[in-house]
Amino acid sequence: MKKPDRHLITSALPYANGPIHIGHLAGVYVPSDIYTRYLRIKGEDVISICGSDEHGVPITMKARDEGVTPQEIVDRYHKLNKKAFEDFGIEFDTYSRTSNKTHYDTASDFFKSLYKNGKFIEKTTDQYYDNEAKCFLADRYITGTCPHCGHDEAYGDQCENCGTSLSATDLEKPRSRVSGSLPVLKKTKHWFLPLDEYEDWLKQWILEDHKEWKSNVYGQCKSWLDQGLQPRAVSRDLDWGVPVPVEGAEGKVLYVWFDAPIGYISATRELRDDWEKYWKDPGTRMVHFIGKDNIVFHCIIFPVMLKAEGSYILPENVPANEFLNLENDKISTSRNWAVWLHEYLDDFPGDQDVLRYALCASAPETKDNDFTWKEFQNRNNNELVAILGNFVNRALVLTNKYFDGRVPARANLNDYDREVLADIRKLKEKVEKSLDAYRFREALREAMNVARLGNKYLADTEPWKLIKTDEERVKTILNIALQITANLTIILDPFLPFSVNKLRDWLSIDTLKWDYAGNDELLEAGHEIKNPGLLFRKIDDSEIQKQLDKLMETKKKNESEKKEAEPVKENISFDDFTKLDIRTATIIDAFKVPKTKKLLQLSLDTGVDKRTVVSGIAEYFSPEEITGKQVSVVLNLEPRKIRGIESQGMILMAEEDDGKLYFVEPSGKTKNGSPVK
Ligand code: MF3
Ligand code: ZN
Repeated sequence: MKKPDRHLITSALPYANGPIHIGHLAGVYVPSDIYTRYLRIKGEDVISICGSDEHGVPITMKARDEGVTPQEIVDRYHKLNKKAFEDFGIEFDTYSRTSNKTHYDTASDFFKSLYKNGKFIEKTTDQYYDNEAKCFLADRYITGTCPHCGHDEAYGDQCENCGTSLSATDLEKPRSRVSGSLPVLKKTKHWFLPLDEYEDWLKQWILEDHKEWKSNVYGQCKSWLDQGLQPRAVSRDLDWGVPVPVEGAEGKVLYVWFDAPIGYISATRELRDDWEKYWKDPGTRMVHFIGKDNIVFHCIIFPVMLKAEGSYILPENVPANEFLNLENDKISTSRNWAVWLHEYLDDFPGDQDVLRYALCASAPETKDNDFTWKEFQNRNNNELVAILGNFVNRALVLTNKYFDGRVPARANLNDYDREVLADIRKLKEKVEKSLDAYRFREALREAMNVARLGNKYLADTEPWKLIKTDEERVKTILNIALQITANLTIILDPFLPFSVNKLRDWLSIDTLKWDYAGNDELLEAGHEIKNPGLLFRKIDDSEIQKQLDKLMETKKKNESEKKEAEPVKENISFDDFTKLDIRTATIIDAFKVPKTKKLLQLSLDTGVDKRTVVSGIAEYFSPEEITGKQVSVVLNLEPRKIRGIESQGMILMAEEDDGKLYFVEPSGKTKNGSPVK
């Protein structure tokens, strides 16, 4: 294949309505960053594009829920996510946003060009309309009864109980989520992209001409194409998005999946005056990095848009990944089942490369994969610390110790030396081959094998023993070990940018281009190096336990939220209510009722008298911690004997689903005996 003139790397634009988690990183952004860094260090002409996807119904719903504008939501998350990427060394040439003016112009122009050339079909369909709120309702804005399972909180696009995907008109007893009213069907006009007309072309382009695409991507495309494509609406009745730029389209915006991929173009346009070269010259090789839920949009819909427009190039590859799970459970923003990047950095400051390493090593490249904290710890302790860190540290520390920090000159090599150096050349080629094929896990494994080899070389040759008897041989060994270390700054550059920068600093070298990898004369004899710091630190069990506890806490919380609230009891009259005599009182003494687990005997100052109450709270409170506490007590409850003690009233407690108890206490110090009413 002809060498491309330039590369355009895009990474899925994350929705700006939530933070970034490890699933995003493993699926899309770590691979795209590795790939881009690889091209950069090879000296290729490459730009890497990303930014916030700021339109779509979920963003408007979140804004509505929080009582703020959609713009406030996207401003918040754009900032947060941009910073998270920067913090993890995910180096985009631009992190743009689809609310920028350039994007509005670009998306509008794109639509107009297709419109003018008759590429759309116009259709009028029935859509639910909210007469009270005076707006059309996106499917997500409608709830009703699921026709399949009878669940009465199903959404207009999907029933979350049985998982069936629905159209809003399938729902029984539909309700508007905006006003709660009964929605009515009303006619509305939209523009459709006739995907069916491109079916033959797509079949040729993907199924015949791109058989090399990853099997998960190819397979999904094939199944879409086998089922047959339908025209797709590219506009919506909504007031958040890029307005449809034709007359008579008031109140309509471009469908978010129409405008978002155009965001790649807008971002390039903002970045470079010569943007057209990147998008229209066939010498450009464009690659889209995405997650599996984005495949149809990047392999079918966006290419059809580009093809219909006519002046753009098409992606050369779309190496989509599957999903990453967390501790055997699907990552979920709404259930807070995730490791958020900003939280990771709070707990593991400076350990960005460890996460990058662990996520690349178990990236869901061909099937869904699981992230566990235990594996994360193992990868760090047994691989980064024990192999890479250990090797580099030995090479640098011994050079400082024996040769004053100067690269020793080497004498004649023996067979073993030559073999090791030859192996490194081979490994470089393997890494290259794997990266070219988007096999990042394999590439990382091969790259780490360079460190493994170095580590073994030092363990086998034991220079720390030889130094007493054969200094000349030690010079050769350390020279080779240092050449291997310099090689690591090249080969690991795409994967571990933070650590490699440290290494370069300690070796006092600049970035060496990829083609120098495999070379064993990167450092001249006499070149001065520095004293190294620690490249990686051991992560101990308590740090891992802390993360697992945090997840356990989340799980518990989710489970208790799942329980349905108890139904409200039957009404009582006001008279019935006033019959209750509830007052504030102070616990003046408390002790455990012998031979019981739950009971405490309390003495109360009720303001009218001193009395005894037996209360079942011993599992949650100790006598000491509640003595002196002010509480609410029902005074006129008929006395009862409990374990031989007469209980004269009842303390009011709030009880959570899991049985946990809380005192119902006055919010400020109150005179004992004050009525609660
Ligand atoms: N926001 C989408 C998601 O998170 C991805 C958009 S990719 C783009 O699933 F091509 F549309 F930009
Ligand atoms: Zn259902």
